[in-house]
Amino acid sequence: MQKRWDNSGGTGTPARQAASGDTVADKSVRPTRDFPSSLQIGGVRISPATVLAPMAGVTDTVFRRFIKNLGGCGLIMTEFTSADGVLRDQRMRGRYLHFYEDEHPISAQLFGSSPQVLADAARVVEDLGFDLVDLNLGCPAKKVVKCNGGSGLLRDLPLIRKIFESVRAAVKIPFTVKFRAGWNDDEIVCVDLARLAEDCGLCAVALHARTREQGYSGNARWEWIASVKQAIKIPVIGNGDIRSPEDACAMVAQTGCDAVMIGRMAPANPWIFRQIEQYVTTGSYTEPAEADRYQMIRTYFRMLLEEEMPGAEGKMKQFASWFTHGVPGGAALRKAIYEAKSGEEILGNVENFFEKRAAVPVT
Ligand SMILES: Cc1cc2nc3c(=O)[nH]c(=O)nc-3n(C[C@H](O)[C@H](O)[C@H](O)COP(=O)(O)O)c2cc1C
Repeated sequence: MQKRWDNSGGTGTPARQAASGDTVADKSVRPTRDFPSSLQIGGVRISPATVLAPMAGVTDTVFRRFIKNLGGCGLIMTEFTSADGVLRDQRMRGRYLHFYEDEHPISAQLFGSSPQVLADAARVVEDLGFDLVDLNLGCPAKKVVKCNGGSGLLRDLPLIRKIFESVRAAVKIPFTVKFRAGWNDDEIVCVDLARLAEDCGLCAVALHARTREQGYSGNARWEWIASVKQAIKIPVIGNGDIRSPEDACAMVAQTGCDAVMIGRMAPANPWIFRQIEQYVTTGSYTEPAEADRYQMIRTYFRMLLEEEMPGAEGKMKQFASWFTHGVPGGAALRKAIYEAKSGEEILGNVENFFEKRAAVPVT
């Protein structure tokens, strides 16, 4: 079954192909000289101006450190975390809000609909040592929207104001919001919402340029990011459909946004942040060779096993399916991984696969 966020189809495919190990420059899209080198969110400096998007089930501490170690990513964020849960359940804090020192700067994303509960949860986040706290106003999932969280709130700007004011008053760390453009095409609120955020003292906004009704279908409409950028002075982080360094530069050029945020492409091409940095400074970037891909997947899987992450096997299977699309023989590897009974067995399958490939002479 294809999940609504599953990027194994068209959206996960890089914008253009290149031979492994090649350094390539796409002549049609020039790197913009204006690509920001850093971003200031309140007292926190983010450099480079790139953000790993929060992704439930993906951006746990292992994935975040894995991306950070590959280089080029300025800010990482937790997956969205229930404000209610954070206050009620100690285990939930351990599971969703655990991070390591080498993850700074790091932002914790909360969802909920009660101004008081969100303020109390933001205080917990601050006490845990997070550098920023973010409010999720974008999640389209029915179970979140039903209790008025995520994108459900987009229809209630007065309640959003109360939440903004309450959380802002509760913490000293920078407070940001990530939202969609509106509930549907008839109810686009992104500019009003961004102004409200600025008015209430938030330090930055991130816009996923789709409506709630769109889910993950169709294209992100970057013109909404441009409209938000023109309307406010606090930093604007653009998000939606960046699949290559060329896309990242194009978003900055077309919208004037202060940073770019990348979601689904990160598990498919974890080097994308480093490639953006390379592209912006040199005009070209390196495609990973097969040996790099092998090291990468092995490192990530080992990190998952060492961390004894709950659900590690499921994460390995999901990651393998994203990551092996486009790899010759990837279907056979995916099948072996899906049939494996333990994390060690999955890792063994990956090692076998790449060792066999390394033994085949290139013709
Ligand atoms: C698996 C998955 C989980 C997601 N979970 C969250 C989340 O917890 N919080 C959030 O604000 N957005 C979440 N999103 C949305 C992403 O942060 C991002 O806005 C969206 O994927 C568009 O960016 P992209 O085109 O670069 O993927 C999720 C997306 C995916 C694919």
